[in-house]
Amino acid sequence: MGDRLNVEGPVPTDGESAPFVVLGVTAGIAAYKAVEVCRRLVDAGVHVAPVLTERATHFIGKTTFDALGSEDAQVGLWDEASPIPHTRLGQRADLIVVVPATADLLARYAGGLADDLLTATLVATAAPVVVCPAMHTEMWEHPAVQHNLGLLVSRGVTVVPPEEGRLAGGDVGSGRLAEPAAIVEAVLGLLGRRHLRSRSDLTGVRLLVSAGGTREPIDPVRFITNRSSGKQGHALANAASRRGAEVVLVTTSDRVVDPDVVVEQVETAADMEVAMLARAGTADVVVMAAAVADFRPKVALDSKLHKSDGVPDLVLEATPDILSELGRRRHEGQVLVGFAAETDQVPERARAKLTDKGVDLMVANDVSAPGVGFDNDTNEVTIFGVDGSVTDVTLSAKDAVADAILDRVCALLPPR
Ligand code: PMT
Repeated sequence: MGDRLNVEGPVPTDGESAPFVVLGVTAGIAAYKAVEVCRRLVDAGVHVAPVLTERATHFIGKTTFDALGSEDAQVGLWDEASPIPHTRLGQRADLIVVVPATADLLARYAGGLADDLLTATLVATAAPVVVCPAMHTEMWEHPAVQHNLGLLVSRGVTVVPPEEGRLAGGDVGSGRLAEPAAIVEAVLGLLGRRHLRSRSDLTGVRLLVSAGGTREPIDPVRFITNRSSGKQGHALANAASRRGAEVVLVTTSDRVVDPDVVVEQVETAADMEVAMLARAGTADVVVMAAAVADFRPKVALDSKLHKSDGVPDLVLEATPDILSELGRRRHEGQVLVGFAAETDQVPERARAKLTDKGVDLMVANDVSAPGVGFDNDTNEVTIFGVDGSVTDVTLSAKDAVADAILDRVCALLPPR
């Protein structure tokens, strides 16, 4: 067993006080996603003060936010000993974000009402405000809702718009709350990341990272791929950027990423190989978090296969091993990190890949365990070092796992 890192909970910010964010939660079915937003913000080093409307507590418990926020959640205007909790929150806030923002909240905020703690705090602040609407399509498209939203935007409020997707009751349409990662990105972007993880230990470091599952075409409409969502690789790109690195992300995924990150979109293993090898020469750190398909059809057909053509005789060939090639070409001082996604004999296989592929660190995830690896928001990894070191990172948000990996990378970088 190696060193054990528990990366749960608030991250200390060296010396500086953490930015203070009020997380408003209103009465919509998407209120459960505010929990994820709360947790991700805390993981990023933000002090989160949750404020729930009384009706939001019909959808989600105050206790959940008491446990995950940086201070106890508040609901009523009269809960605190102080008779003016809204001015304490409003004046102290560096930013207020409302997740989800119902049609009712938008109307009351646009009208300047202040009849509960959340609306009173919104009216009592000079801080930037972000609203994340979520509601049924008919409500979202209603002229009154759009008018209120327009009013708020004209006053400088930022809107993280809802997406198309499944809504409460099984309907499908626009009005589904934006993904928590997109909301957190908007909040961190507005905060300017100025006090977040103030250790800027990757300043001046050029970091190249790959993410997502490659797609290997069979014909113009079909491909071979895997379950990788790109979340872990994108979390690494975001965390490295937050810590001051110049980041290039080569990815098959279109998920939101820090605006400072340079993104190169790719599709196949061959595309990814070209992009990674072209950029690796100037990188100080290279991380292969992508799940590159190991096999691809030998021939990709130009036109669609039809059932009437019979069952195709699909001949596969191996894809290039990008990480091994990066290992062969690495330059003096470059830190190279691979991932091993395994379902059995995890440490043995990861250690073998560590030496076979010529990397400094091999991050092993047992993708058969619940909450680990492909498409989850969490991960649990063991980082094997070529120096014999072993670091276990307990089940944590992928952002926090990314930071734990970058901590190990920092220790390997030559003094700057
Ligand atoms: O994207 P997510 O949904 O967030 O999931 C994260 C993840 C599970 C994809 C990630 O944590 C992970 O484990 N990525 C590596 C997956 C993988 O391909 O593992 P592997 O053991 O098959 O490959 C070992 C290493 O060789 C990897 O760094 C891989 O990028 C690299 N490789 C593999 C095949 C190949 N042809 N070329 C490569 O460079």
